[in-house]
Amino acid sequence: MQKLEMIYEGKAKRVFATDDPELLIVDYKDDATAFNGIKKGTIAGKGVINNQMSNRLMQRLERAGVPTHFVEELSERETLVKRVQIVPLEVIVRNIAAGSFAKRYGVEEGIVFDEPTIEFSYKNDELGDPLINSTHAIALHLATVDELNTIRNYAFRVNEVLREFWASCGITLVDFKLEFGRLSDGTIILSDEISPDTCRLWDSVTQEKLDKDRFRRDLGGVEDAYAEVMRRLREHDV
Ligand code: TMP
Repeated sequence: MQKLEMIYEGKAKRVFATDDPELLIVDYKDDATAFNGIKKGTIAGKGVINNQMSNRLMQRLERAGVPTHFVEELSERETLVKRVQIVPLEVIVRNIAAGSFAKRYGVEEGIVFDEPTIEFSYKNDELGDPLINSTHAIALHLATVDELNTIRNYAFRVNEVLREFWASCGITLVDFKLEFGRLSDGTIILSDEISPDTCRLWDSVTQEKLDKDRFRRDLGGVEDAYAEVMRRLREHDV
């Protein structure tokens, strides 16, 4: 597989074309941003951890019936993935109130929901990724009714699988963000990444934050938190 020209550079990853039009190579960086790029920094070793963690979790999800873009891990930071057209929605599932949910609705962080919630943000940096409902997404032609149903079902399935797995690692899955894409035949698959950048992960006993909130909120110990999550994943993902 030949790595050809860079076709996209995002905040945390670079994407390269390959000699197969249906496949891309994703290259994970250590760069970290928050608040739509206003806060910038580096988390040493993050690219390696996020690459390896996302790949292991996506393989677990595939086994549980959720199709993903994962094809093959090529190196510490590089993975071969299926080329998709990204559905421009951030799909957020929550089990516990935190972050923008706690702020928006004026509730304390840590309230455990009876049932998981789902919400969508319109992926648009200029607009600051505004919250959007499914009828708006259809009106804007971001996705069809059928696609949104598929995405919703997969997102809740991902929650079931990951919540159980992280629990076995002594980690509470508070919330997470997913992105989906369309293959050239229109099939919806899970894309992007699943990592401490895109999930809130709390130690089940101490409630200590083991995710990117340590960077967003200047809590310190960012690298150690990512390494600890990866250590536990390796220990339990056999
Ligand atoms: P929020 O509470 O700030 O809306 O975040 C919900 C989840 O989404 C949390 O696990 C962090 C993740 N997230 C991203 O992956 N990218 C983003 O740009 C934002 C704002 C949140």
